[in-house]
Amino acid sequence: MSSSETIATLANAKGKGILAADESFGSIKKRFDNVGVPTTEETRRAYREMLFTTEGLEAYVSGVILFEETLGHKTAKGQPFVEVLRNKGILPGIKVDQGLVPLAEGSLEQTTKGLDGLPARLEGYVKQGATFAKWRAVFLIGEGLPSSALIDVNAANLAAYAKACQNAGLVPIVEPEVLMEGPHSLERAAEVQDEVLKAVFAALKSRRVDLPQMILKPSMVVPGAKATPVSPRDVGEATVASFRKTLPSELPMVAFLSGGQTEDQVNANLSAINQAAALTEEPWRLTFSFGRSLQKTALGLWKGETAHVAAAQKALLASAARASTASLGR
Ligand code: 13P
Repeated sequence: MSSSETIATLANAKGKGILAADESFGSIKKRFDNVGVPTTEETRRAYREMLFTTEGLEAYVSGVILFEETLGHKTAKGQPFVEVLRNKGILPGIKVDQGLVPLAEGSLEQTTKGLDGLPARLEGYVKQGATFAKWRAVFLIGEGLPSSALIDVNAANLAAYAKACQNAGLVPIVEPEVLMEGPHSLERAAEVQDEVLKAVFAALKSRRVDLPQMILKPSMVVPGAKATPVSPRDVGEATVASFRKTLPSELPMVAFLSGGQTEDQVNANLSAINQAAALTEEPWRLTFSFGRSLQKTALGLWKGETAHVAAAQKALLASAARASTASLGR
């Protein structure tokens, strides 16, 4: 599948979003620990089989982001996950960054590794059936943070990654995540979002990344988890105001991360963002690429038991349906 076909499939799928199921070994262990499921290759495989074989998922989901290990996994009956997804018309994608490392010794800030040997890895992922990719960079808000050093290095790395993906025929999802950690206000989150997105798009342009052939995966503009929450309407207006200042109109699609918001919050906010964007007829499709908020209820029901698969799948489908409704501004 060519990049143009991939981006057309993802960007034109109105009412659909992307399921992020690309938790690294460490992240999936944290999620499993929370519900008392032991972490082994087999439990990781069985969990993802539960997610991907959910009947009807394709009504709400046009792509799934996989972790490297999962890209090679099969169902218990031996069908590759890539084939399971493709048979439903869902595109398989792949997380290609290799996680976070300290920006410098003793720094609170973290940057993302994974550029070394990236072109060769991308070639391998394409052979395994991946059609798009994801790279996550994080920005912590604090006293004097994020630093300009972090913003520069993360923007440059996201652009280098995106260019390598396009050279390999993969659609890049560029994920600059402004973290919700801390007591900062909505206004401070908006300021950081503006600064980060400006730097990221400047770096993408200077690398000559083809903007109509990529997807942005940002945070919503929300106050810190330790601050007083604001209304979805405020989040909608702040997020769209930031995008008007920073996003090029050629960008086809924005797919938000959930970032630790509850399912109710994140869906109310996604809906309000779409309502705010409709008022001023913004050009981008604004949808979801949620991990935690789509999976949390399903994982809690599944608990590693075959007997609970049907209940967990029903919950996943319901969560995906709610996110889909929100992506339509309802
Ligand atoms: P959350 O929706 O859980 O933030 O995960 C999305 C994601 O892909 C993070 O990289």
